[in-house]
Amino acid sequence: MRRYSRITGTGSYLPPRRLTNADLVAELAAQGVETSDEWIVERTGIRARHFAAPEMASSDLGLEAAKNALAAAGVAAQDIDLIIVATSTPDMVFPSTAAILQHKLGAAGCPAFDVQAVCSGFIYALTVADAMIQTGTATRALVVGAEVFSRILDFKDRTTCVLFGDGAGAVVLEASDRPGILATDIHADGKHVGILCVPGHVSGGNVLGDPVLKMDGQAVFKLAVGVLEEAARATLAKAELSEADIDWLIPHQANIRIMQSTARKLKLPMDKVVVTVDQHGNTSAASIPLALDAAVRAGQVKQGQTLMLEGVGGGFTWGAVLLRF
Ligand code: UT7
Repeated sequence: MRRYSRITGTGSYLPPRRLTNADLVAELAAQGVETSDEWIVERTGIRARHFAAPEMASSDLGLEAAKNALAAAGVAAQDIDLIIVATSTPDMVFPSTAAILQHKLGAAGCPAFDVQAVCSGFIYALTVADAMIQTGTATRALVVGAEVFSRILDFKDRTTCVLFGDGAGAVVLEASDRPGILATDIHADGKHVGILCVPGHVSGGNVLGDPVLKMDGQAVFKLAVGVLEEAARATLAKAELSEADIDWLIPHQANIRIMQSTARKLKLPMDKVVVTVDQHGNTSAASIPLALDAAVRAGQVKQGQTLMLEGVGGGFTWGAVLLRF
């Protein structure tokens, strides 16, 4: 009998400070940066985002999301035997945010590591956890996406600073003889490093290069709409299912126009697409588990339904996970 991995609990957390477009536009105007609610809504669909307080790190956001997921699954932190955190905004250069989170959870002993695939990070992390569960290396994993992107934004660059937010999402993934994750498909193409990156790094005790987010938005947009369709189709083919079998598309929440385009290509009406970008902005690796948890708690996503999760981001990285919830 095939050993599957199944999501048995979801959780998320948003830091309390919420900025609507109007709030952000006013803050930016005070610094001489001109933008508008109309531009942001029309080009991205974003209406609000959350920013973490200075003392809150990714592990703190991840901790709250993890606690919520563990409670939903009815699993104690001590019973987790694998922790993977997807983040591009780790607490420290090292050790991993996963190790820090493990300690905050009081779950010493199990393996804990980070996955760095930017906005595809949660899809990568879920794929790795699924493989480890299928092979018997783990039986009960905690998979978290946690980001404080507000820390790496250049608030003088209106082309990027209006797009991102902070937050965390988590799932408990357990071994089961019932499906489960049906298929995964992940990719990277490093030749596109320059279109979405934070080029700064630490050397000799100094930060060298520019430690803020740089993005060629149009180049990312064009690549994203192509690869998201490919990854979705690849997982459907592996699972011998078709678009018609998808109950919910839960894409990375970067831009409503990218989601609309993907849905069109997969012949899915928008009422089968979970959309949280309007309230969360782009929270990178946290966006998919945040959207999943929001949809579960709103009663949209139900047991037994077929979900297509997919992400795309810096690297360039992309991928999809098709699962039975
Ligand atoms: O999470 C990883 C994946 N990331 C993404 O998926 C992001 C993908 N890219 C996008 O979502 C879109 O490309 C953006 C939302 C970033 C930009 O939308 P766009 O429709 O591609 O706009 P654009 O870059 O072509 O800019 C159009 C105009 C420009 O002015 P001109 O040159 O036409 O006069 C920009 O200077 O909009 C201007 N602009 C702004 N205006 C007001 C750019 N940012 C702003 C702003 N407020 N915040």
